[in-house]
Amino acid sequence: MRVAWLLALPAVLSVTSAAVLHRRNADFYSVRTKMHQDLSGRLGDPKEKYFHESVFHPHYDGRFASEQLPYTERKQALSNLIQTYLATFADIGVETWLMHGTLLGWWWNRKILPWDSDSDVQVSEESMKYLASYYNMTIFHYKTPRIPEGRDYMLEINPHYINREQTDNLNVIDARWIDTDSGLFIDITTARYNYTHPAGKGILSCKDGHEYRDTYVFPLRDTFFEGVPAKIPYAYKEILEAEYQSKALIQTEFEGHRFDQEKSEWIPVLKKAKPYVPQ
Ligand SMILES: *[C@@H]1O[C@H](CO)[C@@H](O)[C@H](O)[C@H]1NC(C)=O
Ligand SMILES: *[C@@H]1O[C@H](CO)[C@@H](O)[C@H](O)[C@H]1NC(C)=O
Repeated sequence: MRVAWLLALPAVLSVTSAAVLHRRNADFYSVRTKMHQDLSGRLGDPKEKYFHESVFHPHYDGRFASEQLPYTERKQALSNLIQTYLATFADIGVETWLMHGTLLGWWWNRKILPWDSDSDVQVSEESMKYLASYYNMTIFHYKTPRIPEGRDYMLEINPHYINREQTDNLNVIDARWIDTDSGLFIDITTARYNYTHPAGKGILSCKDGHEYRDTYVFPLRDTFFEGVPAKIPYAYKEILEAEYQSKALIQTEFEGHRFDQEKSEWIPVLKKAKPYVPQ
């Protein structure tokens, strides 16, 4: 049927082919759910930039939300975001591992750092190609004990993922796993083998400039994060120390929080009220 239709249209094909080949961006009107106004920063962003962070906060997608969540709600939404992400990727058979602040959160208590508002994960170049080929713009519906009505999560792949070069600095994020209710998301970056690295073979580079020797990343280790199975780089401690300094692995006061060893939780430190000094 499809072939017949195409064959019947050769005359108009040339007229419309430009429009057909030029794939439409996932703009507000093509993906919107509940919002009436597009709060993505796309109008202020350079034309070549694919992902647009919202005008009200860089860690929210303005196509899906108009405001930041309060502390506790954000913590829960981020927890559900990584749980559904890890479950989905295990399900579709794509290997992914925790990185950056998310790996640091894992180090402390296998949870997201409560002052973070995004999560970071990586995949291999082959995996990113597979995701782009088969799962772009796929919506995954999840019900969790906390969200019995269910929630839609969207996997969106940056078409610039095929550009391997760090000079493409407006598109260092290769894909996002987006909570279409809160607008929060997970940044997915690709670790690509660097064939021209001065250190020789075996170096993985990301478009954001991070570099790792492959033996530090692979074989990945199996663990848990936010209560679900997850993977981390083989030499996680060295990777964390290189990125955050060894202090970050022992310092128990950070970003207005104190690490409670007994509860194994980061607890917000309440600011002491200034003592009243009569004038
Ligand atoms: C994913 O789909 C969106 C919306 O159609 C499109 O803009 C984008 O280029 C696609 N990404 C890839 C890798 O094809
Ligand atoms: C390879 O590594 C060099 C040196 O760090 C860097 O300048 C270059 O951008 C990297 N290439 C890729 C494809 O990441």
